[in-house]
Amino acid sequence: MLSPLLIGLSLVLLTVHTLRQALTSPLNKIPGPWYAKFTSLVLKWHEFRTNRTRYIHDLHLQYGPSVRIAPSEVAFASAAAVKEIYCSGGSGYDKTEFYNLFKVYGRRTMFTTLNKDDHAKRKRILADRYANTNIVRPQSLDGIAERAGNFVNRCFQTNSTIVLGLHSYAFDCVTHHLFHPHATDSLLSSKDEEIMREVTFDDSLQNRLLQFYWPTGHKLFGKILYLFAKPRETPLADGFVLDTCAQTDAAPFTLLNRLQGPDYNLDNLDIAAECLDHMAAGIDTTGDALCFLMWELSQPASIRYQKKLQDELLANPGASFDRLPYLDAIVMEGLRCFPAIPMSLPRYVPPGGRTIDDFFVPGGTTVSCQAYSVQKMDQTVFPDPNTFKPERWLDQPNKGDAERKRLFFAFANGGRGCVGKHLALAEMKMLLQAVYSRFTTLPDATMRPEELEMSDQLISSRPAGQRCLLQTPESSSSSVNARHRLSPGLPYVSASLPQLTLSLASPFKSSPSVCSARPLANRRNVPSVKVTFTLIQQTALKRSTTVNTAIMASLVNVRRDESDPFYRYKMERIQTKIEGKGNGIKTVIINLTSVAQSLARPGSYLIKYFGFELGAQTNLDPADDRWIINGAHEAVKLQELLDGFISKFVLCKKCKNPETDVHIKDGRITLDCKACGQRCDVDLRLKLSGFMLKNVPKKTKLDKAERRAARKAKQNGKGEENGSGGDDNSDMASPNGDDNGIESDDDALTRKIKTEAQILENKAVEIKDDDWAVDMSEEAVKARQQQLPGEFKQKLVLNGEDEDEDVEGGGNTVYDQLGTWIQEQTEQKGGVVNVDDIDIYVKAKELGIESKHRTVLVLVQTIFDENICAQIGKRAPMLKRMITSERHEKAFLGGTERLVGQLSEEGTDMYDKVVKILQLYYHHDLITEELTIKWGSKASKKYVDLATSKKVRKAAEPFIKWLQEAEEESDDDDE
Ligand code: HEM
Repeated sequence: MLSPLLIGLSLVLLTVHTLRQALTSPLNKIPGPWYAKFTSLVLKWHEFRTNRTRYIHDLHLQYGPSVRIAPSEVAFASAAAVKEIYCSGGSGYDKTEFYNLFKVYGRRTMFTTLNKDDHAKRKRILADRYANTNIVRPQSLDGIAERAGNFVNRCFQTNSTIVLGLHSYAFDCVTHHLFHPHATDSLLSSKDEEIMREVTFDDSLQNRLLQFYWPTGHKLFGKILYLFAKPRETPLADGFVLDTCAQTDAAPFTLLNRLQGPDYNLDNLDIAAECLDHMAAGIDTTGDALCFLMWELSQPASIRYQKKLQDELLANPGASFDRLPYLDAIVMEGLRCFPAIPMSLPRYVPPGGRTIDDFFVPGGTTVSCQAYSVQKMDQTVFPDPNTFKPERWLDQPNKGDAERKRLFFAFANGGRGCVGKHLALAEMKMLLQAVYSRFTTLPDATMRPEELEMSDQLISSRPAGQRCLLQTPESSSSSVNARHRLSPGLPYVSASLPQLTLSLASPFKSSPSVCSARPLANRRNVPSVKVTFTLIQQTALKRSTTVNTAIMASLVNVRRDESDPFYRYKMERIQTKIEGKGNGIKTVIINLTSVAQSLARPGSYLIKYFGFELGAQTNLDPADDRWIINGAHEAVKLQELLDGFISKFVLCKKCKNPETDVHIKDGRITLDCKACGQRCDVDLRLKLSGFMLKNVPKKTKLDKAERRAARKAKQNGKGEENGSGGDDNSDMASPNGDDNGIESDDDALTRKIKTEAQILENKAVEIKDDDWAVDMSEEAVKARQQQLPGEFKQKLVLNGEDEDEDVEGGGNTVYDQLGTWIQEQTEQKGGVVNVDDIDIYVKAKELGIESKHRTVLVLVQTIFDENICAQIGKRAPMLKRMITSERHEKAFLGGTERLVGQLSEEGTDMYDKVVKILQLYYHHDLITEELTIKWGSKASKKYVDLATSKKVRKAAEPFIKWLQEAEEESDDDDE
C-alpha cells in the first residue's frame, strides 16, 4: 500500500518538476497564453469540442504569427515558418506520432510514414500517377468529365429518385483514378453509395483522440468507451478495396497499376492500404471544398462572382478547364477561404533545435502551421482576408503573385504536400464548369449560416450542420449576359425569375434526405420535370474539411436569421484588423461607420455595445474614423454580438423590421417602427441603454432640413417631381421646352406612343398625388434619402452613382425590372429585334421611368448587341424621344461604353466598331458635337472601369477628331 506521505511527496516532486520545466523552457520567449506553459489541457479541451482550428486562430490574432499553444507545442502562421517546417531539406521536418492514427490495415502508407526516408521510398513509386501530365491524359479526364456530366444530368431526370452528391462525385472520380475500370459509380448505384457513406460518415473523433492521448486507457477501457464514442469501422470500404486490389487489369494511368508493378515488392495488403488511404483522402477533401465554394458563390455578396464565372464559361464553351483564368481564381480563392484541411499539420523539430520565425525552438518540440491561419494572417498579401474575393488572384498578376502563392497552404507545401493536388483541382474545376455553365445557384431558404460553421475532426473540419441546400433559378446564356450588363454589382437574378429549384441536400448520419428540384411557375416553358435527388455533402472521417463560410461574404442580411437572398435590408459584414502586439494589441473595426449607417444608429452605440459585451475599452468618437476595441477580437465574434445589438436596439419588437427610429425622452428609449407604426420600449436594464440615455445625439442639420421640407410641402399641398427628365406631363418634351424637333417628327410612332401612354399616365398621376401627400418634394426626398442608412440609400441610387444625382422614383429595381422585362421579351419573341419600340416605351411608362436618363442607360445595354450598327437606325426614333437632355446623352454614351466593354470582354471585339457606332448616333441626332467632344476628351470610371473607358476613348479618337475639325471649319466659315 502506498502511504499518503509517499503520494504527497510524489505530487510535490511532480509539481516542482513541472514548474521548473515550465519556468526554464526556451519556449517561454514565444508569446502565448500563460497556461500554455504549464498544460496542454486547454488545447485538448478545444480538440474534443471540435474547435481546435478556431482556438488556434484566435490565439494567432491575439499573439501574432508565432504562438505557444502547449508546454511543448508551438503554432506558426508565416511564409517563413511554412518554408522552414515543411520545405527544409525537401520535405521538411518529420511527422509526429499523431499520424499513427491514420494507419490502414495496421500498415504505414505514404501519408503515415513518419520520417523522410520511408516517405521518399514510397513517393518515388507513386508520384508520377499524380503528376499533372498523367491527370490530363484523355482517359483520366474523360472519367472526371463523365462524372461531372452525371452530376448535372441527374438533376433533370424525370420522376426518379436519384442519389447524387459532391462526395459521391469525388468518390467516383478518385476511384476512377485509382482503379479504372473498377471504379465505383456511387452517383448511380446505391450499393456504391453505401461504401462512400461508410467512409465519410464518421463520429469517431473523440474515440481516436483518446486513443492518441491515452493509449493504455484506450486499450483497457475500449469496450466501455465504445458505448460513448465509436471507433472507426469501414467494413464495406475495406472489402471493396481489398477485392479491387486483387484485380490485375487496372488501366495504365491508375495508381493500382503502378503499385502492382513488379519492381516495388509491395504485398497485397500494402497495396490495398495505400489505395484505401488515397481513396479516403480524395473524398471529403474535394467534396467539402466544392460544397463550401458553391455555398459561398450562392451568397448574395458573391453572386456577382458567380455571374462572372458564368460569363467566362459561356464565352468559352468547351474550353479546357485549365484555360479559364476566372475559374482558376474562383477555385484558388475558395481554397484560400475554405481550405479543405484547415488544421495544424504537426511536425517534430529535428534534434539540436531550429530557429523558426526568429524564435529558437528546441529539438523534439511539436510545431505546426494551419492553412486557416496561414492564408489569412498576412493582410499585406491578402487584404480584407475574411472576404471571398476571387479578383485578388487576377489583380496585378505580377505583383504579389509570388507572395500569394507562398502563403497558399491548402494543399500544404514541400515534399509532403498533397500528392493529389492536380487531380483535386481538375475535379473541382470540371464540376464547377459543368454546373455554372447551366445553372445559377442560390442558398436554400431553410439554410442557416451556422450550419456551415467549422466543426473540426481529426485533421480536417466539416460543416457543423452537416447539410448544404442550394436552389437554382434557371439561367440561360442570353439572360445571364443581358442582365449583367444592366447593372453590374447588383444581384442580377431578380425574384420574379422563373424558378427551378435544385436542392443539394446531405443525409449525413441518419436516413438519406431527399430533396426535390421542381420547376415552379415557369413562364419560359421549361419542360415540367420532377427531379428528386440527394446531394451528399458528408462528414469527414479521415481528412474531411469545411470552413466557416459565414465569414466570407461582404454583405449580409441585417437579420441574419433571415436567409432570403432578396431580403431588403443589408449591411456590410464586419471587417476587422488586428494591430499592435502584447498588451497593446487592439482591434480596428474598419467598416463600423458603414455598418452603423446601414442600421441607422450612431457608430458610438455600436462600439460601446461591443465594449460592454466584451468587457473591453473602446474609443467613442474617433476623428479619423478608426473605431477601436482593446484586445484582439475576431470579426466573426463581433458579427455575432452585432446580432444581439440589432435585436435589442434596432428591430421592431412587433414586425421585426429594422426601419425604426430611436426616441429618447424622459428617461425612456423607444423604437418607432416606420413599417408597422409600433412603438416599443428598449430594456433600460441593458448597459447600452444607460449609455444612450446619457448620450442623446444632437439633432442634425438633416433632421432640420427634412422637417423644413415637410413643412414646405404641407404648405404647397404638392411638390415637383425630382429628376432630370422633365415632368411626366411633358414626357416627350425636351427639358428646355424646345419641342421643335419632336413636333416636326411627330410620326405614326409618336402618335401611337402618346395614345398608349395616355392610359398609363392618368394612373401615374393618381399615384403621384398620393405620394405628394407624404411629401415628395425634391428637398424632402433628398433630405430623407440622406437620412436613410447606407444600404437603403443605395436602393435609390443606381449603382451608387454620383451623390449629387437626383433621386429617381422607384430605385434601381425599377430599372432592373425594365431590363429583365426586355430580356424576357427577347427570349419569348426569339430575338431583340422583335421587341417593339412601343412596347418598350409603354413598359418604361408603366414603371414610371420613361423620362429618366437612367432608362436610356438600361436601353442601350438591352436593345443593342454585337449587331448594334445594324440596329441603331431602327431604334433611333424611340431613342431620340427619350434622350432629352445632356444627362440623357451622357447616360446614352455611358451605356454604350458598357456595352462595348462587356461584349469585348465576352470575346466579340467591339472597339473597332466604336467609330461607326458614334457616326450612326450622330447621323440620327442621338448625340451632339459639343457633348461628344467633351465626352471624348476624358476617360471616366462612371460607367465602366477606367481601363475600358480609356480604350473606348482611344477607339473613338478618329471620330472625335473629325468632329473637332468640322467644328473648327464651321468656326472659320463663320468668321
Ligand atoms: C481539395 C482537395 C484536397 C486538399 C485540400 C488536400 C489537402 C492535403 C493536405 C493539406 C495534405 C498534407 C497533409 C499532412 O501533411 O498532414 C494532403 C496530403 C495528401 N493528399 Fe490531399 N488534398 C486534397 C485532395 C486529395 C486527393 C483528391 C487525393 C488523392 C487521391 C489526395 C491525396 C493525398 C495524399 C496521398 C496525401 C499524403 C501526401 C504525402 O504524405 O506525401 N488529396 N492533402
